[in-house]
Amino acid sequence: MKLTARIITTDRTPIFTGSGSLLHVDRVIRSQHLGRDGIFILVDKNTRKHCLPLLLGQSASMTAARILEVDGGEVSKTLQVAEHLWNRMLDEGAGRQSLLVNLGGGVVSDLGGFVASAYKRGIPYLNIPTSLMGQTDAAIGGKTSVNAGTIKNQVGFFYASKGVFIDPLFLETLPENHLRSGFAEIIKCALAGDARLWRRLKNHRLPALLSMPPGHPFFQAMITHAVTIKHQAVVKDYRETGYRKILNFGHTIGHALETWSLGESRQPLLHGEAVAAGMICASYLSKLKAGLPDRDLDDIRTYLAEGFKPYPLGGDEKNALAGLLVHDKKNQQGRSRFTLISRPGIPVINVECDPGEISEAVDFYLQ
Ligand SMILES: NC(=O)c1ccc[n+]([C@@H]2O[C@H](COP(=O)([O-])OP(=O)(O)OC[C@H]3O[C@@H](n4cnc5c(N)ncnc54)[C@H](O)[C@@H]3O)[C@@H](O)[C@H]2O)c1
Repeated sequence: MKLTARIITTDRTPIFTGSGSLLHVDRVIRSQHLGRDGIFILVDKNTRKHCLPLLLGQSASMTAARILEVDGGEVSKTLQVAEHLWNRMLDEGAGRQSLLVNLGGGVVSDLGGFVASAYKRGIPYLNIPTSLMGQTDAAIGGKTSVNAGTIKNQVGFFYASKGVFIDPLFLETLPENHLRSGFAEIIKCALAGDARLWRRLKNHRLPALLSMPPGHPFFQAMITHAVTIKHQAVVKDYRETGYRKILNFGHTIGHALETWSLGESRQPLLHGEAVAAGMICASYLSKLKAGLPDRDLDDIRTYLAEGFKPYPLGGDEKNALAGLLVHDKKNQQGRSRFTLISRPGIPVINVECDPGEISEAVDFYLQ
């Protein structure tokens, strides 16, 4: 594979994207004097098997690192698992100059970032995202968290990493459903942040894009474009008091649906699958409240429906979903606030929608 790595920023967090990004890990560690009290690599079971050998093969700094392993998936994003990791690090003598390297998807980077932010009042960490969700979204922007019960991302900090290394090497072993889930965030970046990216995506049908090898130059260009949009939003508004909220497009109903789907004896949705459903609902609300033209609404629904199957929801479930919206962090005084779009790429933030409008949007999704 041709080496194409490039750096997106030189501010608080350098982000390397493209083939060969891993080759920059050692230089960043050296130049920032990281890991003087040892290096710890956080992996889950799958990334230990598929991704750790690749990292060890490309970074000499990692050869003496100690490995911290958690179970794969959302079950590990808890305070109990974080506490277990803090205890492991204490036992292994990790100090304030230790470095934590998060090698995994969004669960590993959210959890590892959270662990690093609180251990000895904060130690440095790097993100090496291995899922498409991690590469396009979770690993960028310094949001760290664990879940509280079944409610996602309720406890956490803004705590920036010292570097992000986005290498397509890892995506070769990512299961297809996770690749699709991650692609939802690329579509989100396009719809909420850049009409040019939306036009580039629309030149290809979603199933065709998803069957491309992740190392394909077009696929890589999509990742880099999405990363740039996310990064610009983070630079403008690190603490999400304004502009960064554009990245929440599709997430209000998406998060509620994801939480709902994780309940007992339900069909669990991946984060991106839920966001895809949320984007269809948010596009409908965009037509109602922000003047999104019918033609764009149709385009968005058709595009997403080709890649994401509809989630079955009955009347009772819709009511339960409305209850979950109350927990969304974007709400104020109990009213649901949405990020909508007036055109693809033109976001409108903080739009209040009432329960009747939300219910109509869910009906539109289910049609
Ligand atoms: N902090 C943020 O800004 C932010 C943004 C978006 C999402 N998130 C969070 O990210 C999480 C979802 O991320 P995710 O979809 O990456 O989930 P994940 O971390 O659970 O990874 C998905 C699955 O793929 C496996 N995997 C990862 N990389 C692999 C590889 N290269 N080869 C084989 N298997 C691999 C993992 O073990 C896991 O089973 C959610 O918890 C979500 O809340 C955070």
